[in-house]
Amino acid sequence: MKNNIIFLVFIVVVVGFLFSISGRKYPQIPADASHEGVTEVSACLKCHGPEGVSPRKPSHPPKDDCLKCHKKKRVLPSK
Ligand code: HEC
Ligand code: HEC
Repeated sequence: MKNNIIFLVFIVVVVGFLFSISGRKYPQIPADASHEGVTEVSACLKCHGPEGVSPRKPSHPPKDDCLKCHKKKRVLPSK
């Protein structure tokens, strides 16, 4: 009986952990004109670097591998 309870707690912890890493915390790249067809990190930094039109917050994670964390919201229909 005691083992069943321990097992149940284990399941709850594992499910909670998977939920917490299921990736809703990174804002998505907007599917607007500024972001259409941008794939180079150096291009991102033209606007999101310290001198750009939309600099990142000081609290932003320091890594510069943008696309690992930020995914495109949706693909724009090609004209
Ligand atoms: C031409 C300038 C420009 C370029 C290039 C650009 N961005 Fe942006 N980005 C903006 C602007 C301006 C905003 C805020 C207004 C908006 O929603 O479009 C924004 C918003 C964002 C947001 C959403 C922030 C939020 O609060 O939801 C993310 C994420 C983002 N950009 C990531 C990127 C990444 C990653 C790249 C490179 C692949 C990139 N951007 C390239 C101008 C740019
Ligand atoms: C390690 C993961 C990670 C990487 C790599 C990353 N970001 Fe972010 N980014 C985040 C998170 C998390 C947030 C939300 C931060 C917050 O709300 O304080 C965010 C927020 C943003 C925002 C919204 C404004 C802000 O500062 O909160 C922009 C714009 C953005 N990132 C652009 C970029 C660009 C451009 C790059 C590449 C140079 C990049 N990010 C790389 C995780 C990442």
